[in-house]
Amino acid sequence: MEKKEENITVAVRIRPLNERELKSTAEIAWEKKNNNIVKEIKGTREFPFDRVYDPSTHTSQLFNDLASQVINKCMEGYNGCIFCYGQTGSGKTFTMHGAKKSPGIVPQAIEAIFSHIQQAVQKEFLIRCSYIEIYNESINDLLNTNSLNLQLAEDRRNGIKIVGVTEEVCTSPNQVQSLLLLGETHKNIASTSFNQRSSRAHSIFRVIVESKNSFGKIDLSVAALNLIDLAGSESANVHTSTASTTRTREMKYINRVGFI
Ligand SMILES: Nc1ncnc2c1ncn2[C@@H]1O[C@H](COP(=O)(O)OP(=O)(O)OP(=O)(O)O)[C@@H](O)[C@H]1O
Ligand SMILES: [Mg+2]
Repeated sequence: MEKKEENITVAVRIRPLNERELKSTAEIAWEKKNNNIVKEIKGTREFPFDRVYDPSTHTSQLFNDLASQVINKCMEGYNGCIFCYGQTGSGKTFTMHGAKKSPGIVPQAIEAIFSHIQQAVQKEFLIRCSYIEIYNESINDLLNTNSLNLQLAEDRRNGIKIVGVTEEVCTSPNQVQSLLLLGETHKNIASTSFNQRSSRAHSIFRVIVESKNSFGKIDLSVAALNLIDLAGSESANVHTSTASTTRTREMKYINRVGFI
């Protein structure tokens, strides 16, 4: 039988214990059984995934195995989306945006896009980027702090779009990096009992890839690559007694969007 081609891949990476957990009596609860099954260490539950990664896996391997094919398809004109899902502190921002010694999916995607452009001599590309966050159900432009609570509109030709969102034309990876840094300074991040730098909003970095053949017949294509770092869902009990009403209010919206 011919192998069924899938367009969605779901993978899980087990997070190593962090400093706080190492100092406590916490233990890792799950282990990789094989490339496709994650299993409880002290129990019998098992869950299948397209790929399972153990705590020693670097994000660059996730990028090569899972993300690079999505980016290649975007360069050919197909829409793509990469996002991380999981409870607070599970490593979504670490995976998407990276940390000091561990570049995330987003910076690696930017490098891959521009290296593809350099090699594709028969095509011309135009790259536009936008960066928004969804905070308590309001869409805020991370590239322009005056643009809060943006509205959605449906356009017959282009589908759903965000009215008035900043879209910057970018011609180099450095330029995109500066946009990411700018957006980073505007993000809603706060300390919670699980994560010192917890994302309190869902953030979407969107790269629009427009391309046309520079030879022969004109062949235009437009694709969107959405790189999403969700805010972590968390148990309602966590915030009830100790945390501020702001954290509790945010949590209600985060969990609501998380379960759609
Ligand atoms: N695979 C990993 N290897 C090493 N450190 C990690 C890994 N994943 C996460 N961490 C660390 O764990 C902490 C929490 O990770 P992160 O902020 O990415 O969680 P999150 O899922 O984005 O949480 P939230 O939903 O609260 O935003 C960070 O200090 C991060 O550097
Ligand atoms: Mg986060």
